[in-house]
Amino acid sequence: MACDNTADVMILVAGGTGFVGGGIVRELARRGKQFAVLTRDPARSADRFPGLAVDYRAGDVRDPSSLEAAMAGVDAVIGCQQFPNSPIENQKKGHTFEDVDAVGTENLVALAKAAGARQYVYLSATGAAPEGYHWFRAKWRAEQAVRNSGLTYTILRPPWVYGPEDGALNRFLAMSRFQPFVPLIGAPGRQEMQPVFVDDVGRATAESLDNPAAATETFDVGGPDVLTMSEVVRTALKIAGRRRFLLPAPKFAMKALATLLQFAPGPPLTPDAIDFITMDALGDPSDISQKLGLTPTPLHEGLATYLPKRD
Ligand SMILES: NC(=O)c1ccc[n+]([C@@H]2O[C@H](COP(=O)([O-])OP(=O)(O)OC[C@H]3O[C@@H](n4cnc5c(N)ncnc54)[C@H](OP(=O)(O)O)[C@@H]3O)[C@@H](O)[C@H]2O)c1
Repeated sequence: MACDNTADVMILVAGGTGFVGGGIVRELARRGKQFAVLTRDPARSADRFPGLAVDYRAGDVRDPSSLEAAMAGVDAVIGCQQFPNSPIENQKKGHTFEDVDAVGTENLVALAKAAGARQYVYLSATGAAPEGYHWFRAKWRAEQAVRNSGLTYTILRPPWVYGPEDGALNRFLAMSRFQPFVPLIGAPGRQEMQPVFVDDVGRATAESLDNPAAATETFDVGGPDVLTMSEVVRTALKIAGRRRFLLPAPKFAMKALATLLQFAPGPPLTPDAIDFITMDALGDPSDISQKLGLTPTPLHEGLATYLPKRD
């Protein structure tokens, strides 16, 4: 059973200060939910949500002892933490898929249970699997911790999330401000995407807490459009009112460059990151439509809510 659909259920959002977490926090606030946000640094996060009175609780998912106080009185946990600068890992700092996604989720699940919580919603990603790239295996390990927890759970797998604060599509748009072209890594027209609007991920997450039909489900949470990466960027440029040409940057050349750059301090690129960002990102939203009654927003509609207001 999902937690009672009342405002007095206490929800802890791990990763609530982030991009996807921001969409979730705003949706919880819109629904009048009682929630707290886990952050490594409450002072730094204090101004994250202007106009919202947010209870920030200190904690680091890699350190179980730091989570005990944050879990006080918590009935449900939303796990959407991600290491800084993802997908570029930093082993020395413990900024890896393994540390923050896999071990971090195992810690959160254990501490949530010890605190008497009853429900967990985990933000995984499409492609999570026991085999394959290590980021898919880390997501799978986190999913399994949630599935085997004994808590009422829902696992959401978004493919590629866009919104006013994303770090991907906005990077292309930032490049297009001052140069006549936008570089795209990989073969043009090959990489297939199903971009999902951050507000839709927020709705799917909040609905998973409230709707008993979401219990023990693993949902793909893609948008309604299947597009190539070039089409996604062209759509965004058109809505932003910019005419730019797309310049393909061959993947093998970028990987060769990344092979050198990975040894720089705070590397801007690694070969793994090139693989990560050039993968297909598809996720059929029909299950969340049928079982949760949610209608995902078409890309051009989502973009039109914020892009024309820029500049
Ligand atoms: N963005 C996408 O397109 C996309 C697609 C599919 C799935 N997802 C999934 O959605 C989730 C959120 O992604 P995002 O893009 O929103 O990430 P993000 O913007 O980078 O946010 C990361 C969040 O994780 C928190 N965090 C980082 N390290 C932490 C630690 N050691 N302990 C506790 N909190 C920590 C940060 O909080 P503080 O800095 O305040 O501590 C921040 O709130 C991830 O699980 C990701 O795999 C995202």
